[in-house]
Amino acid sequence: MAKERTLSIIKPDGVKKGVIGACLAAFEAKGLKIVATKMLHLSRPQAEAFYAVHRERPFYKSLVEFMTTGPVVVSVLEGDDAIAKNREIMGATNPANAAEGTLRKLYASGIEENTVHGSDAPETAATEISFFFAASELQSYERVKK
Ligand code: CMP
Repeated sequence: MAKERTLSIIKPDGVKKGVIGACLAAFEAKGLKIVATKMLHLSRPQAEAFYAVHRERPFYKSLVEFMTTGPVVVSVLEGDDAIAKNREIMGATNPANAAEGTLRKLYASGIEENTVHGSDAPETAATEISFFFAASELQSYERVKK
């Protein structure tokens, strides 16, 4: 298993629903290490740039609107197969198709307001992490037994 890093965003709906702690706890419970985290309110240019890959999609404008409606929590998660593991924890993009117990099944209200984002591949993870964090902001520590 490869040690990876991935970017997580707890979206404005997740922040407003008060599930920041529940999401971070789920990542940690599944063995992912939080090596950076912060709260910020995305500007429109930031949201447009972050989701530029979806520029041509019919939902792009609405997605950018939604992502700027309130603060988000961005984190870097590290661990074995962190990208796939985080996607498993999140569940399918559309909560209607998400497995029981996943964050989107538990908390998302729709395909757009789907509570969390996670990188989908190593290349996008690297780009997305550097979008929000300088290398010097990523911490290193050992997890120990409780
Ligand atoms: P995310 O994992 O952040 O990646 C792109 C986002 O676009 C996705 O989660 C949803 O928030 C949103 N999205 C994807 N598909 C649709 C859709 N069909 N309609 C509205 N929003 C969508």
